[in-house]
Amino acid sequence: MSSSSPPKPSSSSSLRSSPSSSSSNSVHSSSPSHTAARLTQIQRHTMGSSVADTIFTEDVVPQAPEDPLFGLMAAYRKDTSDKKVDLGIGAYRDNNAKPWVLPVVKKADDLLRNDPNLNHEYLPIAGLAEFTAAAQKLILGSDSPAIKEGRVTSLQTVSGTGAVHLGGLFLSKFLPKPTPTIYLSSPTWANHNQIFTNVHLPIANYPYFSAKTKGLDCQGLLSTLSSAKEGSIVLLHACAHNPTGVDPAPEEWKQIAQVVRERNLFPFFDCAYQGFASGNLAQDNWAIRYFVEQGFELIIAQSFAKNFGLYGERAGAFHFVAGPGDKAQDITKRVASQLAILQRSEISNPPAYGARIASLVLNDPALFAEWEEDLKTMSGRIIQQRKALKAELDRLGTPGNWEHITSQIGMFSFTGITEKQVLAIREKWHVYMTKNGRISMAGLNTHNVKYFAEALDDVVRHD
Ligand SMILES: Cc1ncc(COP(=O)(O)O)c(C=O)c1O
Repeated sequence: MSSSSPPKPSSSSSLRSSPSSSSSNSVHSSSPSHTAARLTQIQRHTMGSSVADTIFTEDVVPQAPEDPLFGLMAAYRKDTSDKKVDLGIGAYRDNNAKPWVLPVVKKADDLLRNDPNLNHEYLPIAGLAEFTAAAQKLILGSDSPAIKEGRVTSLQTVSGTGAVHLGGLFLSKFLPKPTPTIYLSSPTWANHNQIFTNVHLPIANYPYFSAKTKGLDCQGLLSTLSSAKEGSIVLLHACAHNPTGVDPAPEEWKQIAQVVRERNLFPFFDCAYQGFASGNLAQDNWAIRYFVEQGFELIIAQSFAKNFGLYGERAGAFHFVAGPGDKAQDITKRVASQLAILQRSEISNPPAYGARIASLVLNDPALFAEWEEDLKTMSGRIIQQRKALKAELDRLGTPGNWEHITSQIGMFSFTGITEKQVLAIREKWHVYMTKNGRISMAGLNTHNVKYFAEALDDVVRHD
């Protein structure tokens, strides 16, 4: 707007800068401060909007950097090449690079839409009871002693992100001061850093990915955790680690559990990919079940975004599991009461639709069996693409060791290529991936895997 624009109507903030101007008594006041305020007000009117009328000046609210993933998506959309490949996306794609609605989800959705009793009332604060009960069984096993002994409490959350946040908020509010540090794997899902910073949990990292082997740096992980201050929190990805695709083997999980016990650390599991890694629900949750079996008190954030393809519906759950013992039920009850207050103040009650879909599937044996087949379809296609990519790189004789393409698991693979190579592959080949060299295997399919292998081969050779 130019300075000749009509003056803006006086806003509450202009009144704030000249409080006396709103008072009829002040009209006749002639104190120096009133005169200055009046002058400022006249100046604002005459200059229109060219004088910022805000308390949120740049030094108060600086421009934030763009979210790297969303920036990547925007750049991909703008690219007009018909060869472009999107390997940044964190969602499953079918063999034609299209979003896939799981057939079992479609079925449940139809049942739901045709249910004459469906309404849009609020859910309870803790969410849909049949959903959270089924989510507990899914994550801990239907015959879990922890469930039978009444030492698990669960709340439905705004997908996995909401569950991670609720867990962070709970720990930050209730753990004795000084607030313990939360240890995150290096690297980790970028949002972990933002979420835990927002709830004022101090953050430290433990080594996770070995650039040399492109596998787990188990020694680095164990040695950092064994020198962590007692009572620290350790965030563990239950399976299909994001962004590396590297998971500890059962023997390594046992060593991790031992250090967690010795240092009296508090385990916080983030489970965003159950069933999506191996295609087998129990196998993907081996670590959580092992820790519970070992009697740890712990918390779990559970997402249904990937394994149900319910990304936008925001279905998730948060679980607290008390260790076994006489007081377990009492602890669980107290924790549940405080979690309910946190939930009430944050979201009042969770969104219903996605949880209803998941609940229908989880509580019906026939639909559950179909879901397991759908999980195998998704994880199987990804495993197939890993094999196809590795075979192409072998065929091309691409320099380097590419074993990790097939040994890593789940949606993501850490290729190990440099940022310079990532930019080159984008520039020259229209292939989009995050700067750390992570690719979403779901973006590969029978139509583009050969092209991607050639692109990778090229940037590796011509660094
Ligand atoms: C490790 C991890 N945790 C949690 C989430 C949360 O996902 P959502 O909020 O979509 O369930 C994700 C999603 O990418 C993830 O990778």
